[in-house]
Amino acid sequence: MHAMQNIRKRSSETYHNACEVIPGGVNSPVRACRSVGIEPIIVESGRADIIVDSDGNSYIDYCGSWGALILGHATPKIMDATIEQIRQGSSFGIATPIEEKLAAKVVSLIPSVEKIRFVSSGTEATMTAIRLARGYTKRAKIVKFSGCYHGHSDALLSQAGSGAAFLNPQATSLGVTPGTIADTITLPFNDADKLRALFAEEKDIAAVILEPIPANMGVILPEPHFLELLRSETARIGALLIFDEVISGFRVGLQGAQGLYGIRPDLTCFGKIIGGGFPAAALGGKKEIMDHLAPLGQVYQAGTLSGNPVAMVAGLETLKELEQPGFYQKMQEKTDRLVKPIEKAILENNLNACVQRAGSIFTLFFGVRQALCREDLSETDPEQFARFFRHLFERGIYIPPLQQEAWFVSAAHTDEHLDYTANCVVEWLTQ
Ligand SMILES: Cc1ncc(COP(=O)(O)O)c(C=O)c1O
Repeated sequence: MHAMQNIRKRSSETYHNACEVIPGGVNSPVRACRSVGIEPIIVESGRADIIVDSDGNSYIDYCGSWGALILGHATPKIMDATIEQIRQGSSFGIATPIEEKLAAKVVSLIPSVEKIRFVSSGTEATMTAIRLARGYTKRAKIVKFSGCYHGHSDALLSQAGSGAAFLNPQATSLGVTPGTIADTITLPFNDADKLRALFAEEKDIAAVILEPIPANMGVILPEPHFLELLRSETARIGALLIFDEVISGFRVGLQGAQGLYGIRPDLTCFGKIIGGGFPAAALGGKKEIMDHLAPLGQVYQAGTLSGNPVAMVAGLETLKELEQPGFYQKMQEKTDRLVKPIEKAILENNLNACVQRAGSIFTLFFGVRQALCREDLSETDPEQFARFFRHLFERGIYIPPLQQEAWFVSAAHTDEHLDYTANCVVEWLTQ
């Protein structure tokens, strides 16, 4: 149905030209598709659940701008609203009414968020959240979990997931000095014993930051008691609990993972969906903590494009769609349609593989039957994944080009495309 029709000649030319002027030809490393052995896809356009490359090949897209596009590409309502805003002016570096509207919307939706500050990327949101936690508690140490990715600020680039997982796991990136990560403590996810032991001896902890549903080592589900333990232990020693909901926020439900598991973090980081496909992110939480940000407090944060009105409009229009009755039920049903046949094939053929899922995000892991943390993923086989990726790619399906990432289903995925994808996956699994 969607098999790639045209040789990727123009895409290849663009890529090779880009390599002359952009390191690796891309502006974010995973896009280079190196681990799956193809030249990167060069996208010209996207509509609904389809992207089209420079050679006119179309692909069903499960990257969805890494989760930002929960409504799909070029959604008419978002286009109309953002074009209208662009007509009024695209950036002022001065406060605009739309910032207040989106802030009030998020505050009304998420009980743990009493105030919110907008920034331009998830990296800035988490970087600011830990600075705020340190400024508020006057403590130094940050606890994170291996395989959780919080963007590329220095202090959080320790045993990070996603594309950074390919770098040296301890130092993580050249250029990050030992001093910068000396106050970052990394633990295995879901390991309650290690967490208790740390909290018994270390008193200088400003905050624990985590993806409550990690998606950057592939989708890993938190043990409910693990999140509860994090909440009680941080409260006990006066450290802050920071949920990085850059992926899970507005994705697994209107109130994100915190709504799903009934845990109230002190601070939450948002990104992706909150900008509706434009560069916006945010951190929000208790008033008492948020008011330590400048200009009220002594913790500095700023940004030329922070709260950019075009991104704010896109975010607000997106959230209005998500609020429609039945939205998340529909997302659940769409994802069931894709995932259930895959799970059936794994079960019936007793395959050493599994699907781990939260709402409309999931990962198909090869080589493991369950994973609770990054340490459980040592048996996954990158070569097998590369072959699987290419099998789908040749059939006009684009999935994130790393096994340890999430697939993103959008509201725009049609039943026909979901069924076709499921068939192609099952075909590969049972060949
Ligand atoms: C959970 C999480 N936090 C933070 C980030 C960083 O966000 P950005 O890429 O917008 O800087 C990402 C990016 O994928 C993410 O998945």
